[in-house]
Amino acid sequence: MDVQSSSATNGAASSVQTPIIELIDGKYYPSGSHHNTEREIPSEFKCIKEGTATVIYSKDTEAFYNKVQVFNRDTSTLVIKMFNDIRKEEKLNPPQKKRQQKQQAKQQQQESTTTTATNTSEQQASEQQTQPPQPKQQSNDQMDTSDDKKPTYEGIRILEALSATGLRSIRYWHEIPNVKQIIANDLLPEAVEVIKRNVEFNNISDNSIIANQADAIVYMASNTDKAFDVVDLDPYGTAAPFIDGAIQSVDGNGGLLCVTCTDMAVLCGQQPGTCFAKYGSYPQKLKSCHEQGLRMLISSIQTCASKYKRYVVPVLSLSIDFYVRIFVRVYTSPEKVKTIYKQFGNVFVCSGCESYYYENLGGGSSASRKEYIHDHSIPKDNCPECGWRLKLSGPMWLGPIHDADFISKCLDHVQKNTHLFTTHKRIIGLLTAAKNELSDIPLYYYLDHVASVLKCNNIPMNVARSAILNAGYRVSGTHIKPNAIKTDAPMSFIYDMMKEWIKTHPVKQSVQPQSVQQQESTTSTTATTTATTTATTATTTTNSTPIHSDKKLTPGQVILSRPQKSQVSLEINQKALISSKHTGIPTYLPNPEENWGPGRRKTIHQSINASSSNNEDEETNTTNTNEESLSPQTKKQKHE
Ligand SMILES: C[S@@+](CC[C@H](N)C(=O)[O-])C[C@H]1O[C@@H](n2cnc3c(N)ncnc32)[C@H](O)[C@@H]1O
Ligand SMILES: [Zn+2]
Repeated sequence: MDVQSSSATNGAASSVQTPIIELIDGKYYPSGSHHNTEREIPSEFKCIKEGTATVIYSKDTEAFYNKVQVFNRDTSTLVIKMFNDIRKEEKLNPPQKKRQQKQQAKQQQQESTTTTATNTSEQQASEQQTQPPQPKQQSNDQMDTSDDKKPTYEGIRILEALSATGLRSIRYWHEIPNVKQIIANDLLPEAVEVIKRNVEFNNISDNSIIANQADAIVYMASNTDKAFDVVDLDPYGTAAPFIDGAIQSVDGNGGLLCVTCTDMAVLCGQQPGTCFAKYGSYPQKLKSCHEQGLRMLISSIQTCASKYKRYVVPVLSLSIDFYVRIFVRVYTSPEKVKTIYKQFGNVFVCSGCESYYYENLGGGSSASRKEYIHDHSIPKDNCPECGWRLKLSGPMWLGPIHDADFISKCLDHVQKNTHLFTTHKRIIGLLTAAKNELSDIPLYYYLDHVASVLKCNNIPMNVARSAILNAGYRVSGTHIKPNAIKTDAPMSFIYDMMKEWIKTHPVKQSVQPQSVQQQESTTSTTATTTATTTATTATTTTNSTPIHSDKKLTPGQVILSRPQKSQVSLEINQKALISSKHTGIPTYLPNPEENWGPGRRKTIHQSINASSSNNEDEETNTTNTNEESLSPQTKKQKHE
């Protein structure tokens, strides 16, 4: 049976053409379907096209269209498209089915080689015993795996919980195959009117994209019986108040949850108290604050999911411009939830040189973290490199934040279909960088920051990557910033690498520890190869850890005063050469325009001036809102 034709889905074509739409006598029609193709949109409206969607808006509301978010919508369309492909495969060829087929083949083989019936049945019995218990299917599962019925794929249902204009939903409908239905929800009645108008304008039936007016928190919490395959949260500010409902309303058998947060000041450590209140984690102001933010958002979602015996598997987590966007699949497993703490941990951050030391909850380590956490030997108070105190950031998700196979599928698709994605260059660049990130290294270092700690010249990226690889460690970039690295090399090695670099690019005399200067003046030895005695003796404790409190030496001076322990080769390693040859597209593209940013909500969304997304630092304007439909949180905010 042809699965797609059997289902009442949108059946979006893989090669989509931008629809041309006409307004005739107050109704919108696809071009050519009606007599007069010359007629134009009435003078009070303007029209915007993005992807396959065309939305109209009143001319009075000049700036309502947020083109900064095109990348978000392009990437989301791509990710949900790939999710749909994978889900279809999972439904049509579920693991049980595959196992059954394997078992049958094995059985047939055995029957042909076994001489007695007794032997065969014994073997079958023992095989059955060794099969792992099968996971229980969700009540809303869309497949039937019994032998006599072929599994079918009925497509996906999507909830866009905070829809604004319907633009995103319209794109999903046109551009993603197998979409069964979309609920485009918004709190504001006027927004819902806009959604309805745009759905009609794009010639989509109101049963395919249902414009719904509700407080998303209430709606999601009360729609848990028929779970959505995809739930998309794209609020202004934080998504924190919506996470609980989203976790409950997304299918716990591998459904996809897509979350945007734009409150980067909070997630990046500017307001640690607010971050703890919203996300349950205490951040520090780190150089790698954007990844810290991503990881705190994921840990917050997982903590919420755990209450419902669910766990998340991140497939793609991006920090872009002024926001984060993450995609996680959600599964139900009471057993797994009990061990999910292993993916969580704290980061101890040096207040002097910003070295990071990781500690997973419950202990455990990866090769990269072995040095400090294998036996819980996190430095207790001070940084082993510079002696300054450690600060704590956490807890946060320390597990992988992407699925490299999933990203490869996305890349493959977008590379073959660049015409479908306005921002395809940026998507390819960022996704390639994300795919290549070391998945077991939580945070990144800026090489220029490392150099600034030591007050030396910057080490070129390729030289640093070579040195790390030459020493047998791993290194990658990050999608977040071009001049940052992730590595499993310990900081002691990174500083040794810098000492080697300084041999040929000396630190200015004025910033060197006094002892180094003295020694340099009497010997021809370079700064880094001299183990200084004066400075170290004056500032060390019994375990040779300098105490920063005497403030005699800067972190960099303490580091440079110590002898280099590792052999470092700065010779260029071919594997370290970063190139965009394979895509022909640079990884990091500059912002498309000056002053690229979120804009102020009022200007972006004047036409349907949004209500609070429970963000105290944003204006609220919830007039005309049916108060009964509000969640307690929203009501409270409204009256504050
Ligand atoms: C950033 S806009 C959404 C943009 C849209 N997803 C897109 O891609 O074009 C946020 C929307 O959330 C709506 N909103 C705020 N609080 C809400 C709530 N509690 N329930 C439902 N919608 C809400 C606002 O009215 C606003 O239209
Ligand atoms: Zn330090």
